[in-house]
Amino acid sequence: AIRRKTVPQIRNSKNKTPVVCLTAYHAHTARLVDPYVDLLLVGDSLGMVMHGMENTLGVSLELMILHGKAVMRGAQQSVVVVDMPFGSYEESPNVAFRNAARVIQETGCTAIKMEGGARMAETIRFLTERGIPVMAHIGLTPQSVQTMGGYRVQGRETDGWAALEEDARAVAEAGAFSVVLEGIAEPLAARITKQIDIPTIGIGASPTCDGQILVLEDMLGLNPTPPKFVKEFASLGAAIEGAAEAYAKEVRNRNFPAEEHTYAMKGNSSGT
Ligand code: KIV
Ligand code: NA
Repeated sequence: AIRRKTVPQIRNSKNKTPVVCLTAYHAHTARLVDPYVDLLLVGDSLGMVMHGMENTLGVSLELMILHGKAVMRGAQQSVVVVDMPFGSYEESPNVAFRNAARVIQETGCTAIKMEGGARMAETIRFLTERGIPVMAHIGLTPQSVQTMGGYRVQGRETDGWAALEEDARAVAEAGAFSVVLEGIAEPLAARITKQIDIPTIGIGASPTCDGQILVLEDMLGLNPTPPKFVKEFASLGAAIEGAAEAYAKEVRNRNFPAEEHTYAMKGNSSGT
């Protein structure tokens, strides 16, 4: 069996090698990308990407566990991190531990991720001291979409910098093994990356971060309206449309299925 990467390996890669991360929601894609990445995140973005929800607020712990199990069946060597969904961790360290322990026990994943900076520090410490590695997530935190009034890039004016630098420092001191910086202007992402001793994983947060993450479906070209920070490394949307069109045509002209796709009778009789 292939040995799975570990949380200390990710944490210790700071100032050595870039940390390569992608999201994954299901077994086939997890298996395909697993050999090339250090970490797979079962992100709660699956609510929008896989289930067509408006935002991530309606994602349940049960749904995260189902997708976490699927990814664990596909991924052999990556550190697998499962997102804690909205409502499953915010109210207290005890509630967060109970739900995070369920995620770890039922999926077999390596670690969990939760949104929030200084306000989540006590919970991050509580979990890490009790055996649950935590990836933090600061900056543009999509579970706060209603209080933010939309998805807003953070740190484009210097007056917001101090609070975000404090968030980064607080989660690092509390024991997070890495922190996602989402939607953060480059100069602030660079400052934070220099100031803390755990890897920063950027998404829309510039090349100055210690690693990068993208939503797999975005980088495969399946999102019809990708955000500015996405680079499409494939055009699967166009490939799927082309395949569906070709299939429909062949079924309608009766070119598919052909003889090689068809079962005959046993022996040499051809049936009718
Ligand atoms: O849910 C998600 O996919 C995420 C990443 C974009 C960091 O949290
Ligand atoms: Na998420």
